[in-house]
Amino acid sequence: MARKVFIAGNWKMNKTAAETAVLCRALKEKFADICPCSVEVAVCPTFTSLSAAIAELKGTNIKVGAQNIHWADNGAFTGEISGAMLKELGVEYVIIGHSERRQYFGETDETVNKRLVAALRSGLKPIVCIGETLEEREGGKTEAVLEKQIKGAFVSIGADDFKKVVIAYEPVWAIGTGKTATPDMAQDTHAFIRKVLAGLYGAAAAEDTVIQYGGSMKPENSKELVAQKDIDGGLIGGAALKADSFYDLVKNAIG
Ligand code: PGA
Repeated sequence: MARKVFIAGNWKMNKTAAETAVLCRALKEKFADICPCSVEVAVCPTFTSLSAAIAELKGTNIKVGAQNIHWADNGAFTGEISGAMLKELGVEYVIIGHSERRQYFGETDETVNKRLVAALRSGLKPIVCIGETLEEREGGKTEAVLEKQIKGAFVSIGADDFKKVVIAYEPVWAIGTGKTATPDMAQDTHAFIRKVLAGLYGAAAAEDTVIQYGGSMKPENSKELVAQKDIDGGLIGGAALKADSFYDLVKNAIG
């Protein structure tokens, strides 16, 4: 099975519901000529903007994802949002374990695993984020860090559920910094990730897994990155906040 390119915008804590509606209307127009047969496209606004995005993008080729999920279905977890709540809105994807959550909100490999279990239980498609810091890369620890993050995320996840998961490799030092991993560097790391997945789920399942790259991907570098054998798309921050740059990035990546 050939892997399909998958490009998702992670809007982070940007865009009110009204601003979301404006951006989604612009995306709807721009992306009308992009065939869903060649690429899967999604946007992941903040929780309060999900309904606006879903309403605007209904009937289009652009899917909607959330940026986090709690591991319980309901209960005394003030400020949290469950999978059932996201599903009811019509959300399709959910980002789990983004480095900003690991860095600022105490996310660990264990909580990533719990959120992943909950997402799968709720019928959401998870985008599991992994990535090393600059210190870890410079210390020669990239592979050990990624292997630990992968093994931690997939504890108790069966082979059938694994097939529903997308991985996003995002070197922390490349996020929002303008520093992109070179295509060769990113390719090497993606190949390593696929090797670790093959060890867990077999070579065929690893071959079928979509692995996005994230970290300062933009229209100028998306083609070269996605052209790499093991890079199957991107998780896009800054460049996803404007319809023109997100469209150009996608168009260049598949063109
Ligand atoms: P960036 O963010 O594209 O702004 O570097 C990517 C991400 O954090 O998902």
